[in-house]
Amino acid sequence: MASNKMWYTVALGFLLPFSYAHTDFFTSIGHMTDLINTEKDLVISLKDYIKAEESKLEQIKKWAEKLDKLTDTATKDPEGFLGHPVNAFKLMKRLNTEWGELESLVLKDMSDGFISNMTIQRQFFPNDEDQTGAAKALLRLQDTYNLDTDTLSRGNLPGVKHKSFLTAEDCFELGKIAYTEADYYHTELWMEQALKQLDEGEVSSADKVYILDYLSYAVYQQGDLSKAMMLTKRLLELDPEHQRANGNMKYFEYIMAKEKEANKSSTDAEDQTEKETEVKKKDYLPERRKYEMLCRGEGLKMTPRRQKRLFCRYYDGNRNPRYILGPVKQEDEWDKPRIVRFLDIISDEEIETVKELAKPRLSRATVHDPETGKLTTAHYRVSKSAWLSGYESPVVSRINTRIQDLTGLDVSTAEELQVANYGVGGQYEPHFDFGRVSPVSCLHLFLLHKRCVSLFQVANYGVGGQYEPHFDFARANEPDAFKELGTGNRIATWLFYMSDVSAGGATVFPEVGASVWPKKGTAVFWYNLFPSGEGDYSTRHAACPVLVGNKWVSNKWLHERGQEFRRPCTLSELE
Ligand code: OGA
Ligand code: FE2
Repeated sequence: MASNKMWYTVALGFLLPFSYAHTDFFTSIGHMTDLINTEKDLVISLKDYIKAEESKLEQIKKWAEKLDKLTDTATKDPEGFLGHPVNAFKLMKRLNTEWGELESLVLKDMSDGFISNMTIQRQFFPNDEDQTGAAKALLRLQDTYNLDTDTLSRGNLPGVKHKSFLTAEDCFELGKIAYTEADYYHTELWMEQALKQLDEGEVSSADKVYILDYLSYAVYQQGDLSKAMMLTKRLLELDPEHQRANGNMKYFEYIMAKEKEANKSSTDAEDQTEKETEVKKKDYLPERRKYEMLCRGEGLKMTPRRQKRLFCRYYDGNRNPRYILGPVKQEDEWDKPRIVRFLDIISDEEIETVKELAKPRLSRATVHDPETGKLTTAHYRVSKSAWLSGYESPVVSRINTRIQDLTGLDVSTAEELQVANYGVGGQYEPHFDFGRVSPVSCLHLFLLHKRCVSLFQVANYGVGGQYEPHFDFARANEPDAFKELGTGNRIATWLFYMSDVSAGGATVFPEVGASVWPKKGTAVFWYNLFPSGEGDYSTRHAACPVLVGNKWVSNKWLHERGQEFRRPCTLSELE
């Protein structure tokens, strides 16, 4: 018991409470670029301060030199020196006014400009939550992309333009953040990395004793007693008087002895439970594993036979007059669910306009907390988004028309164009775009032989997790068109890629093992619902975390209402 208390003190001593209400900056690169400009301004004003301080020191130096010479001559022959009336006058003047002026100069504060600039800018600085958010994003990337700690620390990432590395102190900081999350796996990795860099001779203010203290605790928490002991020994070599480490050492020895005794009797039973928990763990996260593999470009489930049936073609929107003379390039990305990609479908100029319109309005995407019914931010959706209406810009309106022409679906019932920006680590975990499908609507279908867009059917946004862990209905800044306007469910998704992504950021479909890579100027399209109105669960998808670079997309969710004759209903439910 006494030794348990000891660890308890370790924990209390280190744990800092963090709140997650304001996790803003790190979610999108758009806003982080402002911070880069802020830093640039600060550097300029810091340099001005240095210049002012240097010129002040220069003046003081000159005065000292002049007086040095003068006093040298004067002290050699004071009477002769003062025999000259000008010298006598000058001595009076110097002592009465000039030394006083010098005193003022020495006391003069040159830092005003810089300090006031700093005070103004500080209001817009990221806070603790931002720093934690950015750190957690790094840890998330490390997992998703299977990056080893050393690679990440040395900044050896694919496609990076500006290589950057982590110092031992940075690694220590990451370890501490993992620690406050009780994430001992990452605590160990990062404390070990910090230690490694110090062992390799990196000059740093990071303290090995502190690092070893965290490290041994994290290792102990993960059940590796002998390694924890070895690390504590190392700590004690550096600081033999370290109280907690001495206590822990005794505790380890005691536990080891006890374990040895217990081991004699029950090894088999333990093995069994260990195996069971391992199996459970694996079963519990199949989707996560599939999702992360697809993000890394692994686990694609396309057979050569099926691949042969994927084509590319010129598409005229089913003889749409606007596209007969200039059809667009269309490629099959996947067969089931059918996902098609349009190439060169949005120009660079249009992309710039859309981004500029969206930028001032980007705000952290939120989701409904199913328990409280309130809007919150969620780790599974990390991005910033904004909505653009066709009324506010001819470009947006033109884009909407293009989607209507090429999908053959009515866009008047669609949601506004959503623009989203994912910064490094930005992601959207697996979800469906459609809301809950009401069973009544399908009954209605069979009775009336009509589309399922009956008055009964209202996508129930806000009721989270009916089928799966993360539904993306209940989106904060989404117009509540679903309920109020009764436009039915999200029948289809159109997704523009408005940037290339240096690494990561794919759109993946874990149910079917598909991944679609962002390519600037292209768009993908798929139906979320079967013609019967039933949700197509194979459309479950996710936006992989951005590893390097930044991802801009915009999407249009088309709704059921208005499509009655454009995509007629079938009688079979899952056809
Ligand atoms: C979405 C979505 C995919 C992507 O916003 O609902 O699934 O790649 N986005 O951004
Ligand atoms: Fe989606």
